[in-house]
Amino acid sequence: MPQSNVTPGTPVLDENFKHIAFIMDGNGRWAKKRGMPREYGHKVGSSNFKKICLYCCDIGFQAVTVYAFSTENWKRPKHEVSAIMNILDNYLDELKRDYKKYHNRFRFIGDLSVLTPALQEKIAYVETLNSDQPQVLNIALNYGGRGELVHAFRTLAAEGKTDITEDDISRTLYTSACGDPDMIVRTGGDIRISNFLLWQAAYAELYFTDTLWPDFSPADVDECIRVFYSRRRRFGGL
Ligand code: FPP
Repeated sequence: MPQSNVTPGTPVLDENFKHIAFIMDGNGRWAKKRGMPREYGHKVGSSNFKKICLYCCDIGFQAVTVYAFSTENWKRPKHEVSAIMNILDNYLDELKRDYKKYHNRFRFIGDLSVLTPALQEKIAYVETLNSDQPQVLNIALNYGGRGELVHAFRTLAAEGKTDITEDDISRTLYTSACGDPDMIVRTGGDIRISNFLLWQAAYAELYFTDTLWPDFSPADVDECIRVFYSRRRRFGGL
């Protein structure tokens, strides 16, 4: 596994901590503090997203999941939504060119059917890249945890399933291939889950920080790891 960006002192991961998820909040406030438009915050936030994902893969996370655009984010002003879609478009083009720079597969989770056909086509192509890599980056787009559960139940109904088990639901979620996150991190100071990975969060460690997403650094990831290993996960036992 490439270790290029890993500095001495980086915490070592083991099989207990394979999957980390991020609610990347605070881009708008970060920009506002600098007298810049919110769109600028998303631009800087998206550069940081790439940096943090590279770092997380370098240090050995098997799965990283990020909340890039929620089903509720369509309520934002049109120009802000367009700016985020534009960032997505540029990111997909960049991946088509430079995917070898990354050492992970790419999965886009959520209801992608509302995206433009051009974006859907690029996403389908990007999902074929690096398909031999074991590590995965899940990018949640037009994603909502409740919507994901409705999608799962509809899939099971279409299969004719009636005696539905927890395993049935888990296998029909968008994240079925990589399992539940061990930790969910939210930047930007709010202490809520905002419809993110509702089913998968059942036993996740939650970590909230006031740091705004564009300022969130690899050292902050190290701190998340330190906190993770300082907690006792009992999964309902003693
Ligand atoms: C929340 O901050 C952030 C978002 C709604 C968008 C997150 C998107 C990115 C980091 C870049 C997009 C990446 C891809 C691949 C599309 P906020 O706007 O709610 O910040 P605020 O709470 O300060 O207003």
